[in-house]
Amino acid sequence: IHRIGVLTSGGDAPGMNAAVRAVVRTAQDCGIECVGIRRGWNGLITSDFVQLGATSVSHIIDKGGTILYTARSEEFMTEAGRDKALSTCRLLGLDGIVAIGGDGTFRGALALSRQAAAAGYGLRVVGIPATIDNDIGCSHYTIGFDTACNTAVECIDKLRDTMQSHERCSVVEVMGRHAGHLALYVGLAVGATAVLIPERQVDFDQDIVEKIRQARLAGTTHYMVVVAEGAGSAADIGKRIHEELGLDPRVTVLGHIQRGGSPSARDRETASRMGYKAVMALVSGQGNCIIATQDGRIVDLDMEEALQMKKSFPMERYQILEALTLSGSHRR
Ligand code: F6P
Repeated sequence: IHRIGVLTSGGDAPGMNAAVRAVVRTAQDCGIECVGIRRGWNGLITSDFVQLGATSVSHIIDKGGTILYTARSEEFMTEAGRDKALSTCRLLGLDGIVAIGGDGTFRGALALSRQAAAAGYGLRVVGIPATIDNDIGCSHYTIGFDTACNTAVECIDKLRDTMQSHERCSVVEVMGRHAGHLALYVGLAVGATAVLIPERQVDFDQDIVEKIRQARLAGTTHYMVVVAEGAGSAADIGKRIHEELGLDPRVTVLGHIQRGGSPSARDRETASRMGYKAVMALVSGQGNCIIATQDGRIVDLDMEEALQMKKSFPMERYQILEALTLSGSHRR
């Protein structure tokens, strides 16, 4: 193995740069050249690349975003698009690609590798999970989740100060189009009155109205409702709270602020270990794989099998949340 490509694809996540750095430096250490593919899979289609030496990744471990840019490529979903991408891989003489991103990124990688194999070209691909949603089936943890949680907690703590002073209700929407990991983790960390997640059917009366009512009866005069974007719109929920309880909620959508910022120690450390493991998997001749965390260990899993895996949702956190709030069901 002489030369590999590295790219970031899909929604960005804090720690992606730390992973790119780890891939480039490990490759260098093993005497392998590294080419940065820019703007996700689109970069392979349009031949948008940059040579990455050990020093070109200096001082990026602490930077949010991704120096390689990222994109979601429609064209790469098509066979014709992947054909163009393969031409670039051939031209550059790539033996492997490390793709940093989420589920869609890995499915694209696998399709590319299969198409290459059908054409007699042994291109191996390795995936590194990076998304603030923490929703990759095969990995307990995904790069970016910790930083996003810390950012959301910091913002909500500030909101709480002013909500407490004005004795108001706050409805905060956090990211998670299909997953409630971020909302639940953050809700637990800020001591939310209620948390809405897509993994649990929302009963407005029980999950919001009754909880706020119980909190009021217990003496609270401000309330914090955390909503995963996949569970509903904070604006709608704020409106219903006004209609049903006569409160005057303030609605905040944290949005993309959660995807930015300097990565936390946990994200830098995980990204460094995953980047190292990804290159080592290629060096050792391992087939297509996804680097994952399982009980704190970094492992490489066959990509096809890994893509079938489902993550169990930590619903016990929801019970803990209910037990710890003043509006908890045990007080009813
Ligand atoms: O994949 C992470 C995520 O932040 C989702 O939670 C969110 O719905 C989505 O990305 C939004 O991404 P974009 O605005 O870049 O399309």
